[in-house]
Amino acid sequence: MLKRLLIPTRIRLEYLRHNTNTATAAAPPTGAAPHVPVLCDTAIEYLKGAPGRTFFDMTFGAGGHTRRLLDTLPDAKVYALDRDPVAYQLAQELSETEEYKGRIIPLLGKFSDIPRLFGEQNLAKNSIDGMLFDFGCSSMQFDEAARGFSISHDGPLDMRMDGGLSGGLSAADVLAKVDEGDLVKILRIYGEEKAAKKIARYIVDARNAMIKIETTRQLANLVEDALDSGPRKDKLQRPAHSATKTFQALRIFVNNELNEINYGMLLANEMLRLDGRLVTITFHSLEDTIVKRHINGHVVAGAANPLPLKYSSHELIDDPEMLQSLNEKHWRQLNRHVIVPDPEEVSRNSRSRSAKLRAAVKISAPQEFYEESIE
Ligand SMILES: C[S@@+](CC[C@H](N)C(=O)[O-])C[C@H]1O[C@@H](n2cnc3c(N)ncnc32)[C@H](O)[C@@H]1O
Repeated sequence: MLKRLLIPTRIRLEYLRHNTNTATAAAPPTGAAPHVPVLCDTAIEYLKGAPGRTFFDMTFGAGGHTRRLLDTLPDAKVYALDRDPVAYQLAQELSETEEYKGRIIPLLGKFSDIPRLFGEQNLAKNSIDGMLFDFGCSSMQFDEAARGFSISHDGPLDMRMDGGLSGGLSAADVLAKVDEGDLVKILRIYGEEKAAKKIARYIVDARNAMIKIETTRQLANLVEDALDSGPRKDKLQRPAHSATKTFQALRIFVNNELNEINYGMLLANEMLRLDGRLVTITFHSLEDTIVKRHINGHVVAGAANPLPLKYSSHELIDDPEMLQSLNEKHWRQLNRHVIVPDPEEVSRNSRSRSAKLRAAVKISAPQEFYEESIE
């Protein structure tokens, strides 16, 4: 599996090394364009203020942020996590270079694998100085047809960030098996798709007619037919393919992304030492809402509360002790308003256009949240 994934996105290290300055980045020699790090200077500026030099890059990708951090802080060490074996391979290659030897520790897995990985690395709770989460997919995933995320490049409808390494269902498997009502929920909740019912019906009708939806093009065409409404516009009034929201919904579902983000935020509070720094970069409101609620202490039973507290449950807010613990803040946000890329960055890297950065300092330790959390 690893080999199959590595071939199409092999990226040479010379390119990687020179790609930190994104303004001058050239096209890669083979495969999809490597990822251009978003809001890199700002993220590193906040991480620089961490109390020590041990960092976690929870979303290594092509390593743009990690390299900038290591170049800025010559005594820093970065644990580089990614669930994607291609990214892991890049982290391994980078960790073997003269420049970064002993300063990058590559880790393959997802946020929810951290309790195990922490044990394997003999790391203790409250010991990490800074953590970065740059959520979502990398350009290497989006642009490589074989990964199955792309509307514009036809490929197998896969969408698993780990390429199936942990055995989860591909997007094609989901569409072949999912119940119509559940599909409506997936499209509505994860894609914020208003036409969820119509699209789900079309997909189920296609299935009943023995039409298999196995490629990204087939799905994109099917959604286009279902909506039959011409080109759409996104929230910022830019032209968008009519299947964009369907693709987003499936991708989030297949990779269990929102639960992973919620878990990642809880872990950050367990892993960081007091005064440790957290930096997050999100790309849509579903992601940002989870981060915001954690930073604001708005977490009920281990999950970012989907409702404002006053509407949650009167039992919760009638109990003064419970209310106090619910309102207890573990973070102090460093930026008053979310930070977004300036127009120059957006024109250089259109993928940055919806990015939002938050930076926070850990101000108190959490209660235990899961049995399996870090020992
Ligand atoms: C936006 S890219 C990060 C790019 C990176 N900061 C850079 O500069 O190259 C997001 C990466 O996070 C990884 N990822 C997303 N969710 C993850 C999770 N729950 N656990 C581990 N890795 C995850 C993806 O596989 C992808 O490689």
